[in-house]
Amino acid sequence: MNLDAVRQQFEQRAFDYDGLIPRLIPHYREQQDLILQLIPFETNANIKVLDLGAGTGILSALILQAFPQAKVLAFDIAQNMLKICQTNLSAFGKRLRLQQGNFAEDDFGSGYDLVVSGLAIHHLDSAGKQHLFHQLFQSINPEGILLIRDIVTGATPKLTEQYEKLWRQYMKVNGEDDTAWFQNYLKEDIPSSVEEQTKWLAEAGFADAGCHWRYLNFAIFGAVKS
Ligand SMILES: C[S@@+](CC[C@H](N)C(=O)[O-])C[C@H]1O[C@@H](n2cnc3c(N)ncnc32)[C@H](O)[C@@H]1O
Repeated sequence: MNLDAVRQQFEQRAFDYDGLIPRLIPHYREQQDLILQLIPFETNANIKVLDLGAGTGILSALILQAFPQAKVLAFDIAQNMLKICQTNLSAFGKRLRLQQGNFAEDDFGSGYDLVVSGLAIHHLDSAGKQHLFHQLFQSINPEGILLIRDIVTGATPKLTEQYEKLWRQYMKVNGEDDTAWFQNYLKEDIPSSVEEQTKWLAEAGFADAGCHWRYLNFAIFGAVKS
């Protein structure tokens, strides 16, 4: 599936995304709590933040709330996701900027102290992810950090199969059509293992590349630009 098809999918899903996503992603809110805890800056720090694949702005909102001096760029390919983001986060005024673009090829700026990305980078293939990690290294300030939560594969095909089976059970228990969502995932998503991705982050120049949290085929990982 190409990125234009990914964009179309999210244009359609924008309106019920916030209610739906915790039913599809295990520990969705717990992941966010940990992402906030992993941000090493003082709460009054004047930080410049990029939210890559920001969607409806769930991570952006948490950061703007927790860091009252922070300024965030919410970057996303889908106009409807950004529209909901703008509505949901209107209270933050000029501290939030929105930009529509494709992070695989468009300029998302530089000088960031923090880059977060939730459930978005798995739409790129292995080469695309490696290219993005090099771009992100250029975009982040020294001492800046990168935090990614995403769907990943297991370290072996057998583990991937086991994790995906348990993931489908999670969706089913939540009343979702796991067969339909899983077919969609097979068509739309190109996950890589967290082991490969932390290696690619180190190869891009980052320090302390590692996995902070993992549950089945979901992980929070990241790195620091020293
Ligand atoms: C599953 S949503 C995640 C939203 C939010 N970050 C979260 O953690 O819940 C993925 C978002 O990434 C965006 N996206 C996917 N590929 C993209 C790309 N190449 N460039 C920019 N945005 C992209 C989609 O439009 C969608 O809004």
